[in-house]
Amino acid sequence: MTTTNADVTGAVTADASVTPEVAHLDQGDADRDDHYLRLAGARVVATDALLRVRDNLADVLAAKAMMCVHGDAGLGKTLSVNASLRELAPETVCRVQFRARPTPRDIRHELFRALDIGGEPPSKPIEFDGVLKDVLRQRFRVLVCDEAQWLSRECFEYWRHLWDDRATDIAIVFVGGGDCYQVLRREPMLSSRVYVWQEFQRMPREQVLRVIRAYHPIWKHTDPDVIAFADTHAGHGNFRAWAKITAHAARALTRLDRQVVDQEVLGWVFSKLSGRAG
Ligand SMILES: Nc1ncnc2c1ncn2[C@@H]1O[C@H](COP(=O)(O)OP(=O)(O)OP(=O)(O)O)[C@@H](O)[C@H]1O
Ligand SMILES: [Mg+2]
Repeated sequence: MTTTNADVTGAVTADASVTPEVAHLDQGDADRDDHYLRLAGARVVATDALLRVRDNLADVLAAKAMMCVHGDAGLGKTLSVNASLRELAPETVCRVQFRARPTPRDIRHELFRALDIGGEPPSKPIEFDGVLKDVLRQRFRVLVCDEAQWLSRECFEYWRHLWDDRATDIAIVFVGGGDCYQVLRREPMLSSRVYVWQEFQRMPREQVLRVIRAYHPIWKHTDPDVIAFADTHAGHGNFRAWAKITAHAARALTRLDRQVVDQEVLGWVFSKLSGRAG
């Protein structure tokens, strides 16, 4: 298991002596796509949820099991899973993601593409499954299915079918917003096999104050009261909201020719976010 400051309940406690930057998780340009708007200067920081994901994934990979990471939009699920897997098992990851309601056929095709199998995909489902299983038994892989709230019962059944096959050598991570938890729980055949469940929640204020300063250089010397004010009115403990605030604030500093974010800079930022006049 990866070493973190975890107590017996698995909660990761804040330790002021530990810098919240996760240098080895932050791989510069390699993970730029995970950052909202590919924000220049943004770094991956060790939120409590990210540290817990990393620990849980280490367990799930060791057990070749299934995991479900769920929670509201923008809380950092995708970034945390991606950054952790980049550190834990970079060569084994195979990511699939669906925007609308996929069918098992879509999953087959998406896996075919993500596994880089090459050639023409087989036309018959049985042959197709044969090809996929063949590849999935060659070496260990972590299949990450993002936006899992879109999956139907049949789709979950398909993942279960792949995982249950004794010859396949895989762990599966479902990542989903909104209804993912309820959708998965409704499918006992699959949910009973899930080894670890982890819910993402909003960061509490003290965590925001701890991680945001390390997240981007513009916050490094900002008054904690200003950060707290921004969190109350716009951040709400949600990392995507903070990324957005940061992008606007960085722009405002240049436009207003300022060095440090203060109430006036925040006023400029809020005027962009509220969408209302006055
Ligand atoms: N630990 C972190 N360090 C730095 N930035 C982060 C971190 N977590 C999240 N972010 C920022 O917040 C944004 C949103 O995170 P992410 O895309 O992981 O959310 P999500 O929970 O997967 O949301 P959705 O359910 O909408 O897919 C990221 O693009 C990134 O800019
Ligand atoms: Mg996501």
